Amino acid sequence: MDKMRLLFVCLGNICRSPSAEAVMNAVVEKHGAAGRFEIDSAGIIGVHEGGPADSRMKRFARKRGYQLNSISRPVKPEIDFEYFDLVVAMDDENVRDLLAMAPNEAARAKVVKMTDYAQSMGYDEVPDPYYGGEDGFILVLDLLEDACEGLYQQLTS
Ligand code: 4NP
Repeated sequence: MDKMRLLFVCLGNICRSPSAEAVMNAVVEKHGAAGRFEIDSAGIIGVHEGGPADSRMKRFARKRGYQLNSISRPVKPEIDFEYFDLVVAMDDENVRDLLAMAPNEAARAKVVKMTDYAQSMGYDEVPDPYYGGEDGFILVLDLLEDACEGLYQQLTS
């Protein structure tokens, strides 16, 4: 069976989407399903391309046992929309930007929002923590742990 290919996307690919990638990797691992998934992340903008995840995000993620190792890269529309099965945006602006860069209708149909898979948390976006305080990074992880489990359940039910 082909692996399910998931691409998590935020604005800069240094806070939310690298965290989503790590949390989702942990979720599939926990369920013994790591071999059935291929998980990556990317950003709408390329200004952090080639760099590591944000040091604050890494610190809060590590406290929960997640190692953020991914290197920032921008979305490559012609490749990513073909290769990945699902493109998971963190907020409404990401959704709009992804829909605008999607090359065709099949690509647009792959764009979803992370919080659509929330199980218990009542947020409709994963808020950008970049310019805010420490609480924002904790909220990102809370939302991602809730919604990644929900995404896994939906994909495997
Ligand atoms: P992210 O956070 O989209 O969760 O990676 C941001 C990172 C960088 C910037 C904005 C948001 N930036 O403007 O550089």
